[in-house]
Amino acid sequence: MEIQKCVTGKTQIIGLIGNPIGHTLSPFIHNTISKVLGKDLIYIPFNVLPKDLEIFLEAFQKMELLGFNITVPYKQEIMKFINECDEESIQMGAVNTIRIKEGKLIGYNTDGEGFIKGFQEEMEEDFFNKRVVLLGAGGTARSIALKLATQRLETLNIVNRTLYKAKDLSSRINQAYPNLSKAYSFEDGETTELFNDSHIIINTTDVGMYPNNNEMPISQLEWISSKHMVYDVIYNPNPTKFLKEAKKRGAKIGNGLGMLIHQGLLSYKIWTGESVSKNLVRKLHNKMLDIL
Ligand code: ATR
Repeated sequence: MEIQKCVTGKTQIIGLIGNPIGHTLSPFIHNTISKVLGKDLIYIPFNVLPKDLEIFLEAFQKMELLGFNITVPYKQEIMKFINECDEESIQMGAVNTIRIKEGKLIGYNTDGEGFIKGFQEEMEEDFFNKRVVLLGAGGTARSIALKLATQRLETLNIVNRTLYKAKDLSSRINQAYPNLSKAYSFEDGETTELFNDSHIIINTTDVGMYPNNNEMPISQLEWISSKHMVYDVIYNPNPTKFLKEAKKRGAKIGNGLGMLIHQGLLSYKIWTGESVSKNLVRKLHNKMLDIL
């Protein structure tokens, strides 16, 4: 798994734009895959200031990059600059992957499918007939919720600090899947019962993320038991305090490292057409646990 990248005259570039970007693990994922598959590609992060976004996009087209990833805070803003995008990105209103083809920017969103694959691999469970609660109603929640809604769940309820955002997301889900979703705020008296009655709780909020390792999205956890699956999209710290407490109470837990890896693999496939073996996915996962 060591990377000794040798750039040649024909090396193709894949980029990542965001701000800030220094914490990203994506270069490790993509450069390792290219090394293992023998692809003459290099994946480079670019810290882009908001005023420079358009200039970077023009430069990437001129430089004939194979494509690039987009991370916080540009996943939504980038939509106004792209030439085409897939159905998933339109539904999610956000793009995390762009392929440059014949000078055109073509957008995709691999976050939702990356979540489904990461969850199923780690928890060894699917979503059929499950009562699922999502904590949070931001960009990550939206990508996950719209994909989860396709998984034949029993319910998909949204709990968020700001109720109107939870209501927005719920009503989007219900437009396509009537009565699947209800919205709650954390202060709502009904939430403990809702959590207790669910099979799967997924934290998509930033609460508990490094460096705020002592925070949790829900403060009262006495309802958690061995019948629950608790998943936190945060992978740093690993595990979060929320997951540690859930595990103490017997729940099955999982974190977002698998989601990160799978959304990356799906992007890599969009750029190169290449899939990656399960063995390499496992090795990547273990190596990244060491890095964290
Ligand atoms: P991302 O793209 O990572 O999802 P986002 O769109 O900014 O980022 O969404 C962040 C989510 O975390 C939101 O659901 C936010 O709740 P609000 O809609 O009320 O802002 C939630 N969040 C962030 N900080 C929080 C906090 N301290 N307590 C509760 N929820 C929080």
